Amino acid sequence: MRILAFETSCDETSAAVIADGRVLSNVIATQIRLHAEYGGVVPELAAREHLKNLPVVAESALRQAGLGVGDIEGVAATAGPGLPQALWVGMRAAQAFAFARNRPFVGIHHHEAHLYSPWIEGEPPEAHFERFEPNISLIVSGGHTVLVQVEGILRHQVLGATMDDAAGECFDKVGKLLGLPYPGGPVMDRLAAEGRAEAYDFPRPLIREAGHDFSFSGLKTSVRYFLERNPDLAADPQRLRDLCASVQAAIVDVLIAKLMGAAHRWRVRCVTASGGVSCNRAFRARLGSEAKAAGMTVRFAPPSLCTDNAAMIGVLAERRLLAGDRSGYDDEIRPNWPLETLAIER
Ligand code: KG4
Ligand code: ZN
Repeated sequence: MRILAFETSCDETSAAVIADGRVLSNVIATQIRLHAEYGGVVPELAAREHLKNLPVVAESALRQAGLGVGDIEGVAATAGPGLPQALWVGMRAAQAFAFARNRPFVGIHHHEAHLYSPWIEGEPPEAHFERFEPNISLIVSGGHTVLVQVEGILRHQVLGATMDDAAGECFDKVGKLLGLPYPGGPVMDRLAAEGRAEAYDFPRPLIREAGHDFSFSGLKTSVRYFLERNPDLAADPQRLRDLCASVQAAIVDVLIAKLMGAAHRWRVRCVTASGGVSCNRAFRARLGSEAKAAGMTVRFAPPSLCTDNAAMIGVLAERRLLAGDRSGYDDEIRPNWPLETLAIER
């Protein structure tokens, strides 16, 4: 099935064309530089940029796929969760397109799309659901930290989520405290590569709790107090690297402990991770070695599909449309859509 998909839930404007699980094109216009000036995403600015960029990105996705509008058999967009003004642009554009061409439309849950992105691989990327194994999946980005048990395709249940800041948000807020450019995550990753993770000891919130929830705001606060006590530390390049490595180690320790803990508890043989923070090199290396030691396979979303993109929306949309799922041409966006509402019936 040939699908045109849009993603505009935050600060990436993206359109993709999918055909029989294969990603024919995935065009992303990032607004990251625009928002960097404000140290975070400004919703009204994001919506305005989506409005400007979506037609361009959509046309280029069709052109790269070598298809015309008449070739599209199904249409999809991220319905939620996300910034309301931003979601609205992609959703209404996709609905209008589907209505005008009399094609089926489906609104996709952004986190559910992340969940299946580790099953997309190769160049050009293609969804390999025939390789699917039941797994525990961690979605970890600037907006979300969610741990999910995935029993089968379109069959999953949420185990836990962050009670306050997302892991990426913690990276970004600490980055801001350190005077690093936004977003702080990738910058800290680079600096941490030459730092000593054992230099400073920061808390690992909830690491020993049996539950599957996360909390990162206390870690950020403890870095703030630490910097108040050591005001000149970030000005010393090596100590800055050590600090980045130490904070990163605290975040990574918690993510890995929760993910591997759930994998053992639910007796799965596969763990997966997606979202911007899953690009973090220390996280990838640690998860790779821990999973190997436990005899588990590990799958990451390909780097190009780690951050927000329409390809993962289209891949899931194809599955949903083939399963008979349809949304209305006038369905509302769902900015606070809980992933739990798509959970397995038990
Ligand atoms: O998935 P994403 O592009 O957007 C959403 O939040 O949905 O993730 C962006 C987040 C930011 O917080 C960014 O700092 C973080 O992912 N991030 C990283 C790395 N690359 C991106 N955090 C740590 N290490 C990285 N290499
Ligand atoms: Zn995301």
